[in-house]
Amino acid sequence: LASIEVDISKIPVGQEITIKWRGKPVFIRHRSEDEIKAAESVDVAELRDPQTDDVRLVKGPNGQLEKQWLVLIGICTHLGCVPLAYKGEFNGYFCPCHGSVYDTSGRIRKGPAPLNLEVPPYKFVSDSKILIG
Ligand code: FES
Repeated sequence: LASIEVDISKIPVGQEITIKWRGKPVFIRHRSEDEIKAAESVDVAELRDPQTDDVRLVKGPNGQLEKQWLVLIGICTHLGCVPLAYKGEFNGYFCPCHGSVYDTSGRIRKGPAPLNLEVPPYKFVSDSKILIG
């Protein structure tokens, strides 16, 4: 499937689901206020792959940035393992293969991976649905 519609209305705050898109795992994470704050409070200049949290998010139907929703391709940018959610020092993701650590924005913070977890193309088609791809 080139694109896939996902109902996100049943994902509780503080949890995420993994779906498959073009054969790849995609994480859809309903971030808590604490996770959002942690992602926003980072000094971007100190990041290996400098990106603000905002540029990794999209706007919802009301035109506001949907800060509570993080969508990522679940493939470590080192050598392609699938990172584990809610693990690692920053409570984002931890890659069990060689220890890369990502934050609650999916940005690389420690370990060998060179880049942030990729954000796939997606958009909100309603308050409760996103279209990936
Ligand atoms: Fe993730 Fe190497 S594949 S750290």
